Amino acid sequence: MVIEVLRDDRLAIEVRSPARRARPMAVSTDWYQRAVFYEVLVQAFFDSNDDGYGDLRGLASKLDYLQWLGVDCLWLPPFYDSPRRDGGYDIRDYYQVAPEYGTIDDFVDLVDAAHDRGIRIIIDLVLNHTSDTHFWFQESRRDPTGPYGDYYVWRDTDTEYAGVRVIFSDTETSNWTFDPVRQQFYWHRFYSHQPDLNYDNPAVQEEMLNVVRYWLDLGIDGFRLDAVTYLYEREGTDCANLPETHAYLKRLRKMIDDEYPGRIMLAEANLWPSELVDYFGDPATGGDECHMAFHFPLMPRIFMAVKRESRAPISDIIKQTPPIPAKCQWGTFLRNHDELTLEMVTGEERDYMHQHYAEDPRGRLNGGIRRRLAPLLNSDRGQIKLFTSLLLSLPGSPVLYYGDEIGMGDNIWLPDRDGVRTPMQWSVDRNGGFSRCDPSKLYLPVNAGWVYGYQAVNVERQSDQPDSLLQWTRQMLAVRKRHRALALGTYEELEGSNPSVLAFLREHTDEHGETETVRACTTCPATRSPCSSNSPGGSTATSRSSSPAARSSRRSGCGPTCSPCPATAPTGSPSRRPASARCRPRVAPPPPRPRPSCSWPRASPPDAGVRKDALLTPDD
Ligand code: NOJ
Ligand code: CA
Repeated sequence: MVIEVLRDDRLAIEVRSPARRARPMAVSTDWYQRAVFYEVLVQAFFDSNDDGYGDLRGLASKLDYLQWLGVDCLWLPPFYDSPRRDGGYDIRDYYQVAPEYGTIDDFVDLVDAAHDRGIRIIIDLVLNHTSDTHFWFQESRRDPTGPYGDYYVWRDTDTEYAGVRVIFSDTETSNWTFDPVRQQFYWHRFYSHQPDLNYDNPAVQEEMLNVVRYWLDLGIDGFRLDAVTYLYEREGTDCANLPETHAYLKRLRKMIDDEYPGRIMLAEANLWPSELVDYFGDPATGGDECHMAFHFPLMPRIFMAVKRESRAPISDIIKQTPPIPAKCQWGTFLRNHDELTLEMVTGEERDYMHQHYAEDPRGRLNGGIRRRLAPLLNSDRGQIKLFTSLLLSLPGSPVLYYGDEIGMGDNIWLPDRDGVRTPMQWSVDRNGGFSRCDPSKLYLPVNAGWVYGYQAVNVERQSDQPDSLLQWTRQMLAVRKRHRALALGTYEELEGSNPSVLAFLREHTDEHGETETVRACTTCPATRSPCSSNSPGGSTATSRSSSPAARSSRRSGCGPTCSPCPATAPTGSPSRRPASARCRPRVAPPPPRPRPSCSWPRASPPDAGVRKDALLTPDD
């Protein structure tokens, strides 16, 4: 049903109401603070009708797998109608699903099926720009004085906002492009085929609120807000993070809180922590802007810390991260559908990252690195576990990228970021079990080759192997879920003398006054072999206590040493498992190196208040 609301005699703003709606999940106002997110591209997951494109029905048919894996919320990048010149972030119609992916009905079915399994769904909302094929833009260029004439940022010259950074620097040379039809320049922060919407126009503000309502009516659980920093432009600024942008986001948040409680906004804002926290809004209210924001600066520092065998990059950025409002949460990630962005590092650090993670220039894009996790880490299982363990234990809600749970590879011969968006590898069957179509019809080729090809890396094979990366990832997601401190806990770094050791406490007191403490110890020697235990290496221990004395004793005192292992993992009560058994290498140990010291007790102090102090293993 389409209702047109006439605002004045010129403007017609659409309000659409879906004919069908998915069953909502029970209202919860803090689910995202505990959730494990999983980013999955609709086109990449499963092709239900063998036309070469993954689709909504295909994704729905794989929900059992995602439930088995243990994810709580899917993030679906754009699947709207689009010419797909920017992976669907170039939207032609906010109210339509791209025909290759299915229909709005298919989407409702997917949301229902996900909700039935306790899985939520958030989708991308591209507020900042549309495709140049969008009806609004076509009308805007054709009829400058018509109802859509002012929907985009038009100027007679390209001199305004001089010096504002060009983001897609490998493709674009300016943020202005001349339109031969309207004989004016239009503003765009991304590709020239993605004109920025004009938020100074109240009609645009209203249109986008209505788009939000439409999808929330369909039953989704929230939005990842794409490129959210760029909504407004002002002369003399860098045209990002302007007060007007924050004001609009607050308005959007209020509308969602009032009309759709429990649904969330997750900000994509590639900023330093001090600026990022502004996107959470006013701490006095618990947060009145975005519920979540990606912690962009942390991500490259995990890569730097491990390569440098030093905790400093991680410690430093966490120290620079201000506290966030009570109802907010970071979104943490290692990889996603874009290049590994290096916007939040210094030039020297970027060179370091390129040198160590992207020696081949084909792996670089827009200053970042267009590789998946496994190839970045040379498919080293110990390191993949180390990185994933950090993701699951540092503050924030982790966002996994589809395929990384099996160590999928990439294809740097494909253009732009397509190399990290190839079909999911399900089995050794044709096209990796993704589609039964002729391989030449696939939207992108499935990965081939001895190391990363679907014959070597696939879900089916790893499901059958108890010690596979997939099984390990699943077990570690379960561990994370069992320990609320890992999601909600405070973070306190325990500074030891060995710079290769990152040790920290996560502590959470629940509504009954019971405190759970998780102690995590990670060492970053890239050359170390994995632990013999079925653990990611390093150590993590949990304890539960209602006694403040017991809690403080966990911070003080220290065992003399901590056996180094290459990742975060369980330690715990020596009575249940001797320390010597924890990190027994599988192969001959490397040459001796200084043993790191721990700044927490290895054994739990005897205390009646301690109810549990056990090894945290994947079986815990
Ligand atoms: C951020 C998205 O993650 C990226 O894929 C896209 O190209 C830009 N925004 C422009 O929408
Ligand atoms: Ca299909």
